[in-house]
Amino acid sequence: MELLEKIKNKKAKIGIIGLGYVGLPLGLEFALKGFDVLGFDVDERKIPLLKEGKTYIKHIKAEKIKKSVDSGHFDATTDFSRLPEVDAIIICVPTPLNEHREPDMTYIVQTAETIKKYLRKGQLVTLESTTYPGTTSEILQPMFEDAGLTSGAKFKVGEDFFLAFSPEREDPNNPNYSTATIPKVVGGVTKNCIDAAVALYNFVIVKTVPVSSPAVAEATKLLENIYRSVNIALVNELKMVFDKMGIDVWEVIEAAKTKPFGYNAFYPGPGLGGHCIPIDPFYLTWKAREFEINTKFIELAGEINTQQPQYVVDKTMHVLNKVKKSLNGSKVLILGAAYKKDIDDMRESPSLKLIELLQENGAKVDYNDPYVPKLPKTRKYDYEMTSVDLTETKLAEYDLVLLSTDHSDYDYKFIAENSKIIVDTRNAFERAGIKKENIFKA
Ligand SMILES: NC(=O)c1ccc[n+]([C@@H]2O[C@H](COP(=O)([O-])OP(=O)(O)OC[C@H]3O[C@@H](n4cnc5c(N)ncnc54)[C@H](O)[C@@H]3O)[C@@H](O)[C@H]2O)c1
Repeated sequence: MELLEKIKNKKAKIGIIGLGYVGLPLGLEFALKGFDVLGFDVDERKIPLLKEGKTYIKHIKAEKIKKSVDSGHFDATTDFSRLPEVDAIIICVPTPLNEHREPDMTYIVQTAETIKKYLRKGQLVTLESTTYPGTTSEILQPMFEDAGLTSGAKFKVGEDFFLAFSPEREDPNNPNYSTATIPKVVGGVTKNCIDAAVALYNFVIVKTVPVSSPAVAEATKLLENIYRSVNIALVNELKMVFDKMGIDVWEVIEAAKTKPFGYNAFYPGPGLGGHCIPIDPFYLTWKAREFEINTKFIELAGEINTQQPQYVVDKTMHVLNKVKKSLNGSKVLILGAAYKKDIDDMRESPSLKLIELLQENGAKVDYNDPYVPKLPKTRKYDYEMTSVDLTETKLAEYDLVLLSTDHSDYDYKFIAENSKIIVDTRNAFERAGIKKENIFKA
């Protein structure tokens, strides 16, 4: 196979479609390994930034981008007619839910339409976007087969073009794992497809894990994220039960963690956030309906996890009640807007829901986040809010400080010393060695 030879000789040029949290680090990884990479994105603002060696994602360092660009191995464009230049096309576009909480496949379908227009013989296409089992074979494959029709006959998968699914397992800002060091599952439509995809990923990923089909790879990603969602729901439920019993769930988890087998620690919080865990499980729920099956675990976990912001706000009301205050009219400062610590990603952040619920109950709400100077407009929320400074006088203005995201940069001692009351949804203060009567867990 000519493509395989090209890959093995590092002569294959890689195209990455979608230069976001997943696509950009992957493209840089290939460029730094000496492959020529051409990134494609519909967002015109990103291209000049990349060309200048600048970053637009906090944990992806500008130096890495600059090094890739300066080496001559990395370039980016909005011109999709350049797709025939590349030998492998890796799709990393978003897969959100629509307003009915059903898969929004528009990004994948639009991208596939564009690829179909330019697909040439000998190219490999791999999809990385999280999606329901069947997407690669049921949606992409027939479209790409039809791409051949313009020049006579349909293309044959595994001969004229190669197709695979390989889910991304990025954990933004995890100091122990990055794109290159996380093993990667790959499922190809035919043997030639899997051989090409595995050969390619082997250059940049520590270990590739071939599976028998794209559907198995698609299902693997969903299992991983459903597993997280269900386990987080379990500890969130236990948090509420144990709290009523006067038991601290965090202490229980620390104790349970000492079991050397059969237990993995998951932690409660103010609600699910990010582009994956609150969304991906419902891709399976949607697909399962086609087979007349209800995904009960997924629904139940979703219900418990979505209830968390309300639980936190109820707890906040009780805490204020202890000092003869009502939430209505109180000044509340939310610490942390990003959905998880030490990153600037706001997608599906529970802090946005907390602001909504607190405001609905008459609270005056501000927020602080060292990585989010201004709250971005999302599909659902459009708050005109900017991060307030964390000074002694500022903290003293608030009736209550609500910790939503446990950024490492926070000076927990300083915050504890200068706040009237604290509600902590992450056990961050105790983990920082601070135990005070005015700190309540939620
Ligand atoms: N962020 C994560 O940690 C993570 C982890 C695992 C899997 N995933 C999955 O990876 C996929 C991508 O997620 P992400 O976090 O990188 O999203 P993102 O929003 O950060 O990036 C997507 C990029 O695609 C671009 N784009 C949108 N439509 C396009 C089109 N038609 N053609 C070309 N570019 C287009 C956007 O401008 C953006 O730059 C999703 O399916 C997600 O579920 C994400």
